[in-house]
Amino acid sequence: MCGIVGYIGPREAYPIVLKGLKRLEYRGYDSSGVALMNGQLQVYKKKGKVAELEETLVGKDLHSHIGIGHTRWATHGEPNDRNAHPHLSQSGDIAMIHNGIIENYAQIKQELLAKGYTFKSDTDTEVLLNFIEDIQKNNHGTLEEAVRIALRRIVGAYCILLIHKDDPETIIAARKGSPLVIGIGKGEHFLASDASPIIEYTKEVVYVNDYEIAIVRPDELILKNLGNEKQTPFITKLDMELAAIEKGGYDHFMLKEIFEQPTTIYDSLRGRLDAETGSITLTGIEKYAEQIMNANRIMIVACGTSWHAGLVAEYIIEELCRIPVEVEYASEFRYRNPIIHKGDVIIAISQSGETADTLVAIENSKEKGAIILGIVNAVGSSIARTSHAGAYTHSGPEIGVASTKAFTGQLAVLIMTALYLGYKKGTLDRDKYLSLCKDLAAVPDKVATILQLDDQIKALAEKYKDATDCLFLGRGYNFPVALEGALKLKEISYIHAEGYPAAEMKHGPIALVDENLPVVFVATKDSFHEKVVSNMQEIKARKGKVIAVITEGDTITPTLADDVIIIPPADEIIAPMLSVIPMQLLAYHIGVAKGYDVDKPRNLAKSVTVE
Ligand code: F6R
Repeated sequence: MCGIVGYIGPREAYPIVLKGLKRLEYRGYDSSGVALMNGQLQVYKKKGKVAELEETLVGKDLHSHIGIGHTRWATHGEPNDRNAHPHLSQSGDIAMIHNGIIENYAQIKQELLAKGYTFKSDTDTEVLLNFIEDIQKNNHGTLEEAVRIALRRIVGAYCILLIHKDDPETIIAARKGSPLVIGIGKGEHFLASDASPIIEYTKEVVYVNDYEIAIVRPDELILKNLGNEKQTPFITKLDMELAAIEKGGYDHFMLKEIFEQPTTIYDSLRGRLDAETGSITLTGIEKYAEQIMNANRIMIVACGTSWHAGLVAEYIIEELCRIPVEVEYASEFRYRNPIIHKGDVIIAISQSGETADTLVAIENSKEKGAIILGIVNAVGSSIARTSHAGAYTHSGPEIGVASTKAFTGQLAVLIMTALYLGYKKGTLDRDKYLSLCKDLAAVPDKVATILQLDDQIKALAEKYKDATDCLFLGRGYNFPVALEGALKLKEISYIHAEGYPAAEMKHGPIALVDENLPVVFVATKDSFHEKVVSNMQEIKARKGKVIAVITEGDTITPTLADDVIIIPPADEIIAPMLSVIPMQLLAYHIGVAKGYDVDKPRNLAKSVTVE
């Protein structure tokens, strides 16, 4: 949610900040802006995408060696030029950008109004900025000091960058709850919400921690806590290549990421799964294996697509490990005072590793003594760092707003975890274990085969693109895939879509079925298949249009369905990693056929760092 970039050093700041904003646009894209300094403090901002800001700045003198930039996902105040960041303080001396939400802004605003402050925007950011300026004025101190004092009173989440017109040599930054990475160059520093704007300049980065303030100068990086004590910056080497964050010839990041899956799934399995010898090595998880195996229950917390991966994991872990599993929306879990005992196991699943609800859910559980395992994609992210242990999915940067390759990466890691624990615990026998290991190792090639159906699925997208509603049905391991198919379609094509367990349809949704309703069945060959076929008959009897994802060799379903997408066979436990691919392609092609920007669907943002 909101992308933040900063630069200070000998180069021109504007091109670096602008390029960084384009890389971070997936985090929010309703307005953007930059602040630069060349003798005086200049702020430029504009409603719309970064390209619109860029257009308005053509021909302007943007010379500056310091710059901060922001791309916004609106929280307080509608997306317009006024509410876009950077904001200027009342005096016009300080410019600030902010990612997060200041929860107690209303009270502080009242205090500032009483002191005669006026506000040009509807944002909580401008309130925090004027609060900082007010403290600085009253204390006659430094900006850094004022930021520190102000933040001690702030409730909420923030990553802020500030520059002051009298100090073109310093950027002040601080974070709590919203991410901040600082790239260390030679006589220069780069600041950003994630590493993507930084990697082409330096691979040495510092992930700033919550409640830390960074004083950033060309030659100097000082980290302090809110108590003004110096902290030692921990320098990490980025393990990421520039190509990973570029489109590489594809029309959209989403399509690139769908097509990357044979490689990204392989990367998730690489060095961990040896199907020949039947060995699984998950170093992070092994340390806690005994505790997990003996846990009374496992709770999985996540949001959106990651929550769907959690649902698949619930079925798999219960089946293979015989440990009760509960899957919770992180946003509900964190507020409903869940019963957590010391030693309970919580698995947090997150692509970005920054989702605010998931992060707070695990922080709360950690305080109560739970063991936290993080299944995370973004290396060094907050959830990864907060977890006791876990495993990275190694899916590479996911830039398309709709999550695709992260889901299959999460499933790869979750399935390996279940296999490892089940076999170790003895609830999974050796033959079944070896056969599942082999099936899992075969997934990358099978996904490559499914991707060859792209043209067929594109044609289906043309056929169904004008539908106003769509139902996705599946049972067992494929029920969460139906939910994921519906989520993908609604977010990319804005078609109203619902996912249901196929049998549950009779308890209400069947009322929607008529000749205009496409119903996508995830109907691969598994132990529920005959039941799913019966559900299909029920839809056909009411003239619904059936699109079925089926397994090679299935001769019955094609006689019922209007359209079939045939995928390779796999054990039912592994099948969701395959059956989800046609869901992703169908949503993508319908979104494109309708003329939408599938990488940046309306109202959405990639990394949901606000609750
Ligand atoms: C859907 C999507 C979202 C995310 C959700 C969780 O395509 O991208 O539903 O899955 O916001 O995000 P992470 O996995 O980053 O915690």
